[in-house]
Amino acid sequence: MEHDHIGRQGHGHQQGHGHHHDADAASDASMADILDLDAEVVGPYLDELTSWAASHTKAEPHTVLDIGAGTGTGTLALARRFANAELVVIDRSPTMLDRLRAAAAAHGIADRLRMAQADLDAAWPPVGTADLAWASASLHHVADPDRVLADIHAALNPGGLLVVVEMDGMPRFLPDGVYPGLEARCRKASAANGWNSWPDWTSHLERVGFTVAEKRVFELDIDPAPPAANRLAHSITSRMRERLAEQLSAEDRAALDRLLDPDDEEFLLRRGDLVVRGARTAWAAHRA
Ligand SMILES: C[S@@+](CC[C@H](N)C(=O)[O-])C[C@H]1O[C@@H](n2cnc3c(N)ncnc32)[C@H](O)[C@@H]1O
Repeated sequence: MEHDHIGRQGHGHQQGHGHHHDADAASDASMADILDLDAEVVGPYLDELTSWAASHTKAEPHTVLDIGAGTGTGTLALARRFANAELVVIDRSPTMLDRLRAAAAAHGIADRLRMAQADLDAAWPPVGTADLAWASASLHHVADPDRVLADIHAALNPGGLLVVVEMDGMPRFLPDGVYPGLEARCRKASAANGWNSWPDWTSHLERVGFTVAEKRVFELDIDPAPPAANRLAHSITSRMRERLAEQLSAEDRAALDRLLDPDDEEFLLRRGDLVVRGARTAWAAHRA
């Protein structure tokens, strides 16, 4: 999920490309927590996405490439759906890859996994060829997406499939009528910071030679939310409170403070009325 940087960060969308340092490890760890929680909350929807991907494959994939794999929520979903495939993951963050390695071991897929720690802004790593490539919430992070798309195209076997997934924004958790508009204003402020901004990838895909088979929006609407959603909402709201403080009104900051205050009746971790709403947009594109 959303999984992404909320607000401006050292290696966010608009700055710092190619400058990923150890100092980012703490930030990666907190993002990794959010990614893991997100997976817990939206896991079933990931299975819907991988099934959709499978419906676009021309043959059962032998090798699946997960680009910007993070903590591996997509990798695990791909491993579930393509039970015989070798899984190759690329990420520049050692923190993410450590989490992914542990998750793979816990789910019994370590023997099918190959990991490449690589900064895609520097160069495409020598990972070999693949039948299915998957880039979820990662393509908008790289400095030159068209170059990376061309590299993915070259790495795919003929007839191979690329699935690009992007989140339409951070998920929303408050039920209707509770602090109306607060989450929308936070999303707007995040977007103004360049967070999670991505273009329609269709023309980019076509420019490097892909044929787009389908672009589809997957809506997320879980009501009531599962228990992990409270922790996810709390993590995301904390980051928003920290990073968007200057862009929000005093009234909105006060609302966020109440939602984050363990002594307040509005406290997110105790609420029983949360929902999960959001959307992901996905593209399925073939190499001729
Ligand atoms: C928002 S996370 C998405 C993780 C995962 N695909 C998911 O959907 O949960 C983006 C991931 O892309 C990785 N990433 C960003 N820029 C990268 C680059 N230039 N090279 C390699 N990995 C990168 C980050 O380290 C992070 O793990």
